[in-house]
Amino acid sequence: MANDATVRRIAVIGAGPAGFYAAEHLLKQSEPPIAVDMFDRLPTPYGLVRAGVAPDHEKIKNVTRVFDKTAEREGFRFFGNVDFGTDITIDDVKQHYHQVYFSTGAQVDRSLGIEGEELPRSHSATEFVAWYNGHPDFRDLEFDLSQERVAVIGVGNVAVDVARILCRTTEELRKTDIADHALEQLAESRVREIVMIGRRGPAQAAFTLPEIKELGHMEDAGISVMGKDMELDEHSRAQLEKNPDRLTTKKLEVMQGYVGGTNPQASRQCIIRFLLSPIALHMTDDGGVGSMTLMENRLEPGRGSRLSAVPTGNTMTLSCGLVFRSVGYHGVALSDIPFREDWGTVPNDRGRVTRDDGSHMVGVYVGGWIKRGPTGIIGTNKPDAIETATCMLEDLASGASFTPSADDMAKTLRKRGIDFVTFDDWKILDALETENGLAQGRPRVKFTRVQDMLSALG
Ligand SMILES: Cc1cc2nc3c(=O)[nH]c(=O)nc-3n(C[C@H](O)[C@H](O)[C@H](O)COP(=O)(O)OP(=O)(O)OC[C@H]3O[C@@H](n4cnc5c(N)ncnc54)[C@H](O)[C@@H]3O)c2cc1C
Ligand SMILES: NC(=O)c1ccc[n+]([C@@H]2O[C@H](COP(=O)([O-])OP(=O)(O)OC[C@H]3O[C@@H](n4cnc5c(N)ncnc54)[C@H](OP(=O)(O)O)[C@@H]3O)[C@@H](O)[C@H]2O)c1
Repeated sequence: MANDATVRRIAVIGAGPAGFYAAEHLLKQSEPPIAVDMFDRLPTPYGLVRAGVAPDHEKIKNVTRVFDKTAEREGFRFFGNVDFGTDITIDDVKQHYHQVYFSTGAQVDRSLGIEGEELPRSHSATEFVAWYNGHPDFRDLEFDLSQERVAVIGVGNVAVDVARILCRTTEELRKTDIADHALEQLAESRVREIVMIGRRGPAQAAFTLPEIKELGHMEDAGISVMGKDMELDEHSRAQLEKNPDRLTTKKLEVMQGYVGGTNPQASRQCIIRFLLSPIALHMTDDGGVGSMTLMENRLEPGRGSRLSAVPTGNTMTLSCGLVFRSVGYHGVALSDIPFREDWGTVPNDRGRVTRDDGSHMVGVYVGGWIKRGPTGIIGTNKPDAIETATCMLEDLASGASFTPSADDMAKTLRKRGIDFVTFDDWKILDALETENGLAQGRPRVKFTRVQDMLSALG
């Protein structure tokens, strides 16, 4: 199909949800016939569904079956282990394709910008999550789980994932597809207390209802919220009275139920604190983080309807030997593609990439987290990807595209000696992982090194 002159060839860079949802929409069209080559820097597809979604959230990962259906469509090819920017460039793309769609996600963490942030034992949640999920770039990181108290900065769903994984028993984790190296080290964990810290109040907590409820149902861990933290300030109360919001009210009810603790006898305790911002991390005698200074906040009306955290001037010290900063992800600039460093996204107009002067870059599109920033669940990427794919189809119809001249990209990659992984290859790896998992009563045992994956494929 790739050589048929009527076929419009599209490169999708990034095999996460946004990549697959766009590929599905494009491949469903018959006029013009479309071929999609999907690239990922990892040999494995699915982006954060494999490397982000928590191991104990097995059911969520079933969405990969939907992506597999897309991969079965005529005209779809996968090129894993191919990095845009290193192995292929925008010039390669222009020579081989009519259009390119970037769905490279948000690959790094946002920083806090406070003193001591870079101390040993202060990590981003991004690193920890990628480590326990077996992302090859992170598998050799080390986390000192001999520390008894851990602070998690931020109260979003990623912070909840981190806290929950630290609270789970080895037996709970052993049933999941958590990476073997993480399972071994978490089994030796001496962590007893996890303090999650929100800079605003309970009514502004970013975690969602199922996630906060789940913290109350762990085998050998309790959860608690301080009664004084649950007293709503006048602005939050006024907002909820003016615009009743069922989900926020429900979340507040659930947290109210955590006041005093759910299971004080449990081996591990998760404590959620509100209206506190870390302003400095401090070194202890061994050179690693040993404590942090927290500023107490109050809420004041900010931009639009947002209530902002304003420092009161009162501070407190929290001793903690390990810190995970979970204050959001951040996109990474792509070679020769415009980028907004402050937002960590590629500037775009409904997915069409725009230059500084607002003009469209012909043939270049974005979808998912690199388009709109690091928010939203897997499903949020579907309408987002369809919006971009619809623009792509309109542009193809009007002739706004590259005019490719070169041969098949597979030949170009082979000529360059790039050891790419096809979707059939991935299916072999997938079968090996699930087979190994079956033997241990686990969903899969993940490959965590690229070299091991390539060796397994011979
Ligand atoms: C820790 C965590 C847990 C989450 N858990 C859930 C959950 O339980 N349920 C839920 O609904 N949502 C969850 N989400 C949200 C969901 O994962 C995201 O909405 C979604 O993955 C974003 O999709 P994306 O395709 O934009 O990016 P990603 O999923 O990040 O995919 C981007 C892909 O691009 C590839 N890539 C990057 N740079 C390059 C390059 N230069 N060349 C080639 N390839 C490249 C990456 O390897 C990756 O495969 C979670 C998010 C995080 C961070
Ligand atoms: N189970 C799931 O469905 C699941 C699991 C994981 C992730 N996700 C999704 O993935 C997306 C990303 O999740 P996320 O948790 O990384 O991001 P998030 O939902 O945006 O939460 C970020 C948290 O960090 C806080 N924060 C930001 N800057 C801060 C600072 N300077 N100091 C202190 N706190 C700061 C935010 O507080 P403010 O509110 O005050 O800004 C918020 O509590 C979300 O849409 C999430 O729902 C879903």
